[in-house]
Amino acid sequence: MRILAIETSCDETSAALIEAKPGDRKVKLLSNVVASSLTLHSTTGGIIPEIAAREQVKYIIPVIKKALKDSNLHPLSSKNYNLSSTIYRPNIDSIAVTVGPGLIGSLLVGIETAKTLAYVWNKPIIPVNHLIGHIYANFILKTENRKQKTDPRKTENTESLSSVLSAIRPQSSVFSPPIFPALALIVSGGHTDLVLMKKHGSITWLGGTRDDAAGEAFDKIGRLLGLPYPGGPAIEKVSERGDASHFTFPRPMIDSDDFDFSFSGLKTAVFRKVKTMKQLNNETIADLAASVQQAIIDVLVAKTLKAAQKYKAKSILLGGGVAANQTLRNEFIIKLQTHNPKLITNFFAPAKKLCTDNGAMIGSAAFFNYKPVSWKRITANPELYFD
Ligand code: KG4
Ligand code: ZN
Repeated sequence: MRILAIETSCDETSAALIEAKPGDRKVKLLSNVVASSLTLHSTTGGIIPEIAAREQVKYIIPVIKKALKDSNLHPLSSKNYNLSSTIYRPNIDSIAVTVGPGLIGSLLVGIETAKTLAYVWNKPIIPVNHLIGHIYANFILKTENRKQKTDPRKTENTESLSSVLSAIRPQSSVFSPPIFPALALIVSGGHTDLVLMKKHGSITWLGGTRDDAAGEAFDKIGRLLGLPYPGGPAIEKVSERGDASHFTFPRPMIDSDDFDFSFSGLKTAVFRKVKTMKQLNNETIADLAASVQQAIIDVLVAKTLKAAQKYKAKSILLGGGVAANQTLRNEFIIKLQTHNPKLITNFFAPAKKLCTDNGAMIGSAAFFNYKPVSWKRITANPELYFD
C-alpha cells in the first residue's frame, strides 16, 4: 500500500509518500518534502496565523508535486504536468491528511487540497490527528545514516538510540519497532501530553500541560534571553557553552501525584532572574539557557519514567519538535540505564528531521490506523484532541 500524506497544521507545508504492506511493523519512506515559513515568522518572533495560511496556499501544490516526483513512482519529466489531470493518476492507494489540531486557515489548505485530489483521482482519504502523527514518526524505517554510534551524546535517530540500548539489552534489534504497551511523550510548540498506547488505535491520555507547552516555554524563554525564534533549537545551541547548574530554576509539578505539567512559572522565574541582572553577556545567557533547559528536561523525564513504571511500558516514544533536543534524548537513555535495572523499557525517538511537523508521520499514522472515509465527511477540527 502506498499513501500520499499531507500535513499543513501550522507553519510547515509537507507532503510525503510512504509504502508498507499488511503486517509490516514500520513503514518505508519514499519521499518527504517540507517547506517551512519559519524564517518569515522568525522576523516577527512567533507565528502569525494569517501569514502561515497564505504561505500554505503558496507551497501546497509545489510540495505535493515534488513529493510525487522524489518518490520515483512516476516519470514526471515534464515540468508542466497537471496534478488534477485525469490522465495523470499517481500509483497510490490512498491519501492521508491532518485534520487537527492546528490553525484553521493552515489546516483548510491541506484538507481542501487532499479532498480535491481524492475526488479527481478517486482515492480513499484518511483523516489523521496531528498529535497521533507525532507518535507515529517512531514507526518509520530509517533509510539513511544507518551507521551505528555508541556514544549516547552523538546519537541522532531511533535506530542509533536503540543500538545504544541494545548494548545494554542484547535482545533488542537495531531496527526493531516499538513494543506495546508504549508510553508516548508528545512535546511540541502547542502540546505536552503523556499517553498510553496499548496497541495501534488504542490511546489513553494520561496527562498534559495545564498552561504553556514545553516548546512554548522554550520559545518564550528564548525571546526573554534575546535568542532567535524558535527558542528550542536556539536554547539547545547556546546551552552547549553553558553550565546547567549555574542557576537553580524550579522543576514545576515534578513530584505531583498526576501526569500533568506546568511550564508558565518557569518562564516567570527566568524573567525575574533576568530582571535582577544589569546586563546579559554571552556567558550568562549560555548559563541561563543551559539551566532552564535542564529544568524542563528534568520534569519531562521524571514524569514520563513515573508513568512508564506505573503502566509497565515496554517502550517510551518521544514525539514533537522538542523531541529533537539531544540533551533530552541523552537524559532518557541515561536515566533508563540507571532506573530501569531489568531493562524492560526501550527508548525510541524519531530521526530529528521527523520530530518537527512533516507529512511522513501523517502517512505512518494513517497506515497503522487505516480508516478511510468519504471526502465529503472530512472537515478541519482545530481543537481536535485525544478521544
Ligand atoms: O512539533 P512542532 O514542529 O510544531 C508543533 O506541532 O507545535 O514543534 C515546534 C516546537 C517549537 O516550540 C520549537 O522551539 C521546539 O519544537 N523545538 C525544540 C527543538 N527543536 C524544535 N525544542 C527544544 N530543542 C530543540 N532542539
Ligand atoms: Zn506538531
